[in-house]
Amino acid sequence: MSELVLVEDAEGIRTIRFNRPEKKNALTRPMYTAAAEALESGDADPAIRVFIIAGAGGIFTAGNDLVDFMQAPPHVGGGEIPPVEHFMRALLAVQKPVVAAVDGLAIGIGVTMLMHCDLVYASPRASFKTPFVDLALAPEYGSSQVMPRMFGHVIAADLLLLGSTWDADKAARHGLINDVADDVEALARASAANLAAKAPGSLRAAKALMRRPAEALGDRISMEGGMFAELLRSEEFTEAATAFMERRKPDFSKFG
Ligand code: COA
Repeated sequence: MSELVLVEDAEGIRTIRFNRPEKKNALTRPMYTAAAEALESGDADPAIRVFIIAGAGGIFTAGNDLVDFMQAPPHVGGGEIPPVEHFMRALLAVQKPVVAAVDGLAIGIGVTMLMHCDLVYASPRASFKTPFVDLALAPEYGSSQVMPRMFGHVIAADLLLLGSTWDADKAARHGLINDVADDVEALARASAANLAAKAPGSLRAAKALMRRPAEALGDRISMEGGMFAELLRSEEFTEAATAFMERRKPDFSKFG
C-alpha cells in the first residue's frame, strides 16, 4: 500500500488518509488506486463497519494533482477506467457508511468526494472550493447534479460557477457539512464508532435507499416496504427487539 495513502483499521473503522502534505495532499493516480482498493476491500470485509476519509498535516486535499492531470488526462468512457474514476466509482458504490474529516483545505475533487460521503465534519480552519471554471474545466462526478439538489441552484452556482471559497461556517450553513469541531478527527471517530455499533444490514439498507435516484413516491414506499419486511425477519431485528425487552444495549457485533 502506498505511503501516500495510509490505511488503518481499528475497532471496525477503516481510516483512509491522504498523506502527501508537502504537496497539499494533491491526489495522484497511485493515490486514487490505493484509496479505491481500500474502499473495495473494506466493503467486502465484514470486520470493517465504517470508513473515515481524512487528510494529514492540516490539509484535506488540494484536489487532483495538476501535473498528473496534464501528463495523463483522465478519459471518461474510454477503454481502461482511469484511477480517479476508479476511486470515485468505488466511493459511490460503497455500501457501508463513509465519514469524512476535513481539516484545512478541500479543493476540487476534495469537495466533490464529500458529496458522496454520508457524514462530513470539518475543523474551523477548513475551507472548500471547486475552481473548475477558474481552471477552464467542468464540474465532475455528479457534482453538477448533486450540488444544486443539496443547496439549490443559486447556492451551488456560488461554488461551481463563481468558484468561491467557503469557510467551515458557511459550509455548515448550506448543508455541505454536518458539524464543526476543533478536534475534527475525534468527532469523526466518535460518529464512526457510533455507526460501527449499529446493525450493519440495516445501515446498508438505509444508505441504499437514501442514495436511490428520485422516483415516484408510491414506488419508493413499495421499495422501503420490501426492505422493511425483509429486515423484520432478520436476526439483526431479533437482537434489537430482544435487547429492548431485556433492557440492555443490542449487540450487533456478530452480524456482517
Ligand atoms: N497539484 C499539484 N501540486 C500541488 C497542488 C495540486 N493540485 N496543490 C498544491 N500543490 C503543490 C505546489 O505545487 C507546491 O509544490 P512545490 O513546493 O514543489 O512548489 C506545494 O504543493 C505547496 O503548494 P503552494 O502553492 O506552495 O502552497 P500555498 O499554501 O501557497 O497554496 C493551495 C496552497 C492549495 C491554495 C495552492 O497550492 C493551490 O491553489 N493549488 C491548486 C489547487 C487546485 O486548483 N486543485 C485542482 C482542482 S481541479
